[in-house]
Amino acid sequence: MSSIGKSINQFINEQQNKTDSNSDDLSGLIADIASACKKIAHLVNRSAITGIGGASASENVQGEVQKKLDIITNDVMVEQLNHHGHLAAMISEEIEDIIQIPEHLPKGKYLIAFDPLDGSSNIDINISVGTIFSILRCSDASREVRSDDFLQAGTEQICAGFCVYGPTTMMILTTGNGVNGFTLDSEIDEFVLTHPDMTIPEDAAEFAVNISNQRFWESSVQRYINECIQGVDGEREKNFNMRWVASMVSDVYRILIRGGIFLYPLDTKSANSSGKLRLMYEANPMSFIVEQAGGLSTTGYQRIMDIKPTDLHQRVPVILGSKNEVERIIRYHQEDK
Ligand code: AHG
Ligand code: MN
Ligand code: MN
Ligand code: MN
Repeated sequence: MSSIGKSINQFINEQQNKTDSNSDDLSGLIADIASACKKIAHLVNRSAITGIGGASASENVQGEVQKKLDIITNDVMVEQLNHHGHLAAMISEEIEDIIQIPEHLPKGKYLIAFDPLDGSSNIDINISVGTIFSILRCSDASREVRSDDFLQAGTEQICAGFCVYGPTTMMILTTGNGVNGFTLDSEIDEFVLTHPDMTIPEDAAEFAVNISNQRFWESSVQRYINECIQGVDGEREKNFNMRWVASMVSDVYRILIRGGIFLYPLDTKSANSSGKLRLMYEANPMSFIVEQAGGLSTTGYQRIMDIKPTDLHQRVPVILGSKNEVERIIRYHQEDK
């Protein structure tokens, strides 16, 4: 029987029951995340009316000027997720330290890392934004959670997902058993399964990169992008298209639908010559989803999910998408050494 049209809660419950009898908590946590994302969708949708667009007066630990909505959506996530005893602690792109569960509330066995509003530079120009999350297990929730509890490789994730607040609100989810896409049906206020078993085509002719950084890239990435631009007249003997939304959620969603490659590579412009994107909040959850959909994700030198994190807010180069294109770039990095 087709699963299309099932609510996210029903789908997760059924999927979890098949794999793990002790997973009620995870279903409950995903339901809480879905509730938070519905609230955020509503807030984003009405932001011009309620006057919560625009910048705030503060900077986050990443050194970015926070949008008012970066702070508000962070608070929505925290409030929605800290009450039901599923979590031991949280970390957020917008908050420097670990967000502990208040003493008077029950604690659970999971940890969550989230980017409450991805693509927030797009909020004032009415382009899609999103929320990204990664769920890990906490080895010991009986004491206060520490940084090293969170500093687990991406391979340890038990669930990852993201929401896109676009023409429709969608949630993309993996629990390590493929990738499924759910659309928010505003008539019933539920996410329903519309995109089962999402897979990324192995070949592609579309790249996503912020080309204004070109002069800061390594030669392997320069070579790859130059060959794409040369099209039929160059090495690749085929034409490529380019897209760059500047909301990772949208760029990755497009790749899940029609393939392609996304790069925010290592560049000499970023502090410590790293990339821009954050390992815990962006790179790891997106890598888990992309790999589960049959794609690959790398820094150019190393599988992203194999990185042992050293800092909650560390940044990494990200190259992900269609398998054959990512393999080609890895090869260019190796040839460049
Ligand atoms: P955030 O809004 O959470 O800080 O993330 C923005 C990220 C990502 O969504 C996007 O791919 C990238 O930054 C865009 O960066 P540029 O503005 O440098 O192109
Ligand atoms: Mn930001
Ligand atoms: Mn982001
Ligand atoms: Mn963000």
